[in-house]
Amino acid sequence: MISSPSKGLTGKFRVPGDKSISHRSVMLGSLAEGITEVTGFLEAEDALATLKTFQSMGVNIERLGEGKLRIHGVGLHGLQAPEGDLYVGNSGTSMRLLSGILAGQKFDSVLTGDNSLTKRPMRRVLDPLAVMGANVKSTEAGTSPLHISKSDSLSGIRYEMPMGSAQVKSCLLLAGLYAEGTTTVVEPAVTRDHTEQMLRGFGYDVKTKGNEASLKGGGRLTAIPIDVPADISSAAFFLVAASITPNSDITLEHVGINPTRTGVIDILLAMGADIQLLNERTVGGEKVADIRVKSSQLQGIHVPDNLVALAIDEFPVLFVAAAYAKGETIVTGAEELRVKESDRIQTMADGLQALGVDAQATPDGMVIKGGVVNGGAIESFDDHRIAMAFAVAGLQSQGEVTINNCENVSTSFPSFVNLASSCGFNIAAQ
Ligand code: S3P
Repeated sequence: MISSPSKGLTGKFRVPGDKSISHRSVMLGSLAEGITEVTGFLEAEDALATLKTFQSMGVNIERLGEGKLRIHGVGLHGLQAPEGDLYVGNSGTSMRLLSGILAGQKFDSVLTGDNSLTKRPMRRVLDPLAVMGANVKSTEAGTSPLHISKSDSLSGIRYEMPMGSAQVKSCLLLAGLYAEGTTTVVEPAVTRDHTEQMLRGFGYDVKTKGNEASLKGGGRLTAIPIDVPADISSAAFFLVAASITPNSDITLEHVGINPTRTGVIDILLAMGADIQLLNERTVGGEKVADIRVKSSQLQGIHVPDNLVALAIDEFPVLFVAAAYAKGETIVTGAEELRVKESDRIQTMADGLQALGVDAQATPDGMVIKGGVVNGGAIESFDDHRIAMAFAVAGLQSQGEVTINNCENVSTSFPSFVNLASSCGFNIAAQ
């Protein structure tokens, strides 16, 4: 992609469906009794990887076009053994959540992924699953492929998670559906709660108290319609884009604003952004709003640690916001960024430095001094959010920003270049 300076962004549009909710709609819809109709589903590689794994375990999922799915649920015990390995591409959410579901099945399975996913840590789910009685093997390094062998039974556990991770929490709750007794997960920081919300929507009793979530095995899921809101993580690129580009005024429609996901809005507001939430409403248990954002002069801040987990996927583009802000921005407590689709602390610091920005990586975050951003060439390291963040960086740079290896944008946001162009980016796919 090549991104060149823009004179202003305008328009009213909807970004694609929420990735986290799309994954969960297929998982719970498949395990439910009855037919789940999904609208707003994210038709991008990651969510489609989850869809394909359930199809290969015998679930009839009709793709009706434009984000519409009809899932013929098979019930918690109706999945069939897949014929080959289950390949989930780049998707950590698919691999970690599926390992919880597969641990409870009466058949063996193997989960594999692409080059990036194969490097990501899986012990964080395998260790607690083993305590529940699951038979799951990784490589020596604790990475995939994951070999999951059927186990006689799983037992509920109380697990204090060492890191804030919705994927680990969700994996264990999903395994808990198949366990005897109660499974309780305690998190050190609040993380996205879509699994808990959607399980409740499907009629499953999930108790939450403070930072603990628990459920008892042996229940059932009943199909419900699901309306997937637009993904705030995709909207985030436009929130920063319109903030840093003078003469901008855009409205993003029907965006999910679940409070466990809105850290990006709180951080940008604290930096002085002009963001308004309009038409707030609740759709299928999830809060949504239209978000209007206009240009503003951002200021550097020390991002409060308690907002980090609530904005974990938005840091690549927040680092770009910091590069255009007045003064210094400090991010701490964000070491989880090092184990995402790329090491997002290093890849962003390297990229910003290549554009002449004073960005210093620290073990758990970054210190960025805002100022002039030059043009230059950037590596995306096959990470979709790095590629899109640097497309935003090109909006007010001194010269054009070229981003190499952008194919992975299609894992979460295949229409990015089109939507960005239509609101005023000067952007071209290479
Ligand atoms: C996700 C949780 C987050 C996030 C990922 C999606 C989910 O990962 O980064 O993109 O859908 O549960 P962690 O829970 O590992 O932080």
